[in-house]
Amino acid sequence: MVFLNGEFIPKEQAQVSVMDRGFLFGDGVYEVIPVYSGKIFRLDEHLERLQNSLNSVQINNPYSPQQWREILHELLSFSSESSQSLYLQISRGADVSRKHSFDSLSPTVFIESSPLTPKTKAELEIGYRAMSQPDFRWQRCDIKSTSLLANIMYSQQAKQNQVEEVILHRDQLITEGATSNVFIVKDNVLFTHPTGDHILSGITRDLVLESAKHCHLSINESALTLTELLSADEVWISSSTREVMPIVQVDNQLINNGVIGKYWPQVYDYYQGLKHV
Ligand code: PDD
Repeated sequence: MVFLNGEFIPKEQAQVSVMDRGFLFGDGVYEVIPVYSGKIFRLDEHLERLQNSLNSVQINNPYSPQQWREILHELLSFSSESSQSLYLQISRGADVSRKHSFDSLSPTVFIESSPLTPKTKAELEIGYRAMSQPDFRWQRCDIKSTSLLANIMYSQQAKQNQVEEVILHRDQLITEGATSNVFIVKDNVLFTHPTGDHILSGITRDLVLESAKHCHLSINESALTLTELLSADEVWISSSTREVMPIVQVDNQLINNGVIGKYWPQVYDYYQGLKHV
């Protein structure tokens, strides 16, 4: 079952207009929210970010936080999976003709839920490979927009190069991954790009920072260069679906001789604890 514009219907029956601006322009915003043991993880934070995205692009939020909560729980009740990933998108809606500027429209709301199987610690401990690329995205990466062409191009490049993620840099400074935030540990300090319009302010990013603090790792929210990343002690990426994942090779450079560092297991363990409080 999926949710579309006020109704719970089978996915095969869900249809939207070809004039929907989500289809024509990618004119919409979205959220991906993990659910663990039937509990929606950090829902308030996701709804707050959703509201920020909607405000930035002048789409009215059709529901109050309480209404969102009820809709999401009702959708979850159709599935017996305890861990799920909720995908929620709001497009500006369907217009009578295609034009870039917009009038007031009724937003199209679509939500689906799919099973979520986070990688186990044993799987993650092996470490993953990434590649670097210049960040050619726009200047409003803080908006969680469904217009994802650049991210799609990077993700396809990652797939073709058999790496987990593309790590992006703007003017040599590491911003984030194509679908994740990036963390660098150097000399017992954790660095990550500050929030602002060059990165998406990840909900997992905040949780990783919270976990790192608990593990007595100093935090410096400032961007490092690609050269600094390549000589780091540890590199991690984070997202709602990947949680916190260690990267042990970027391009041809091994990080920490290709093995995970000492902080990742601690931060990972603390993060797992947060899921069940
Ligand atoms: N992407 N930065 C970018 C560009 C992202 O696409 C994502 C997540 C993040 C991490 O945000 P969060 O921790 O809130 O998931 C950072 C999601 C998972 C996606 O597009 O599917």
